[in-house]
Amino acid sequence: MNAQGATRTGPGPDEWAADEITRVGVVGCGTMGAGFAETCALAGLDVLVAVPGEDSAARGRARLVRSLDHGVRKGRVAESEREEVLSRVAFTIDLAGLGDRQLVLEAVPEREEAKREVFGVLGKVVGDPSAILASTTSSIPIVNLARGTDRASQVVGVHFFNPVTVLPLVELTGSLLTAGSVLDRAEVFVSGVLGKRVIRSADRAGFVVNALLVPYLLAAVRMVESGFADAEDIDAGMTLGCAHPMGPLALADHVGLDTLAAVGQAMYEEFHEPLYAPPPLLSRMVAGGLLGRKTGQGFYRHG
Ligand SMILES: NC(=O)c1ccc[n+]([C@@H]2O[C@H](COP(=O)([O-])OP(=O)(O)OC[C@H]3O[C@@H](n4cnc5c(N)ncnc54)[C@H](O)[C@@H]3O)[C@@H](O)[C@H]2O)c1
Repeated sequence: MNAQGATRTGPGPDEWAADEITRVGVVGCGTMGAGFAETCALAGLDVLVAVPGEDSAARGRARLVRSLDHGVRKGRVAESEREEVLSRVAFTIDLAGLGDRQLVLEAVPEREEAKREVFGVLGKVVGDPSAILASTTSSIPIVNLARGTDRASQVVGVHFFNPVTVLPLVELTGSLLTAGSVLDRAEVFVSGVLGKRVIRSADRAGFVVNALLVPYLLAAVRMVESGFADAEDIDAGMTLGCAHPMGPLALADHVGLDTLAAVGQAMYEEFHEPLYAPPPLLSRMVAGGLLGRKTGQGFYRHG
């Protein structure tokens, strides 16, 4: 046991190797669920996506098609591959349909109760006791999700970045209850099969990336709030002075100001560190629906 929970160990003799995972499940087909489904299908896996209803399935499939078409235009996906990739992804409106999966990724909205409910059902319906049950949560403790199931040792956090098909990083997290062999197999799957670069993080709100990024973005919001400098100048400072590809306020608009506020709040509740607390300007912009790119207005006007 270490700060990350589980210790690194090899797989047990009765467990399959991670590259034997061929049947994956996904719960939710929004931004992250669809991205994960597409990434797995591109890797040649059989993907079954559980959604709440037929409408959701139609929206999920349309999202996949749009993303694949974009991939074809960008040369990331071969035209000849498109139909085959799509044929690898099926939908179900019944979580019990995921019974034969070897790995399931939960990607429903960031609400602990909803996620725990999904894990409770997965624990009952997924037949293989060595199946990996994963969540792509950004801030909910993995141990809380693990406690929602009767197989806490199989639960891991696998935090992808948006867009999943493009960004190579994954933060892998075990809780204090995760078996070391499960974490190791999850790492082999994510890196060896999906081709991502895995970094490991302790089960702490924000993991590695947000623990560094969020206080930086919030500091930029506070600069605007106090009249220290305006958004354009702050962003120019970091793009032109530090060679960052995007300034902090443009990045905040891209992430979504509601998401930034929610992740900051979760980190503040965990560590009680004032630098993580969303400043009042951010909270008021969220209350006003000025969420950034997704609503057309944040620190900048979009579209
Ligand atoms: N969007 C990001 O940039 C990002 C990045 C990393 C991690 N995350 C995390 O990924 C998770 C999903 O976020 P998202 O941005 O994809 O959300 P989203 O709102 O785009 O998608 C969530 C989907 O889940 C579906 N859903 C809700 N309840 C369900 C249920 N019981 N069963 C099946 N489907 C259900 C919804 O219909 C929706 O399509 C969250 O935990 C979020 O914190 C998001």
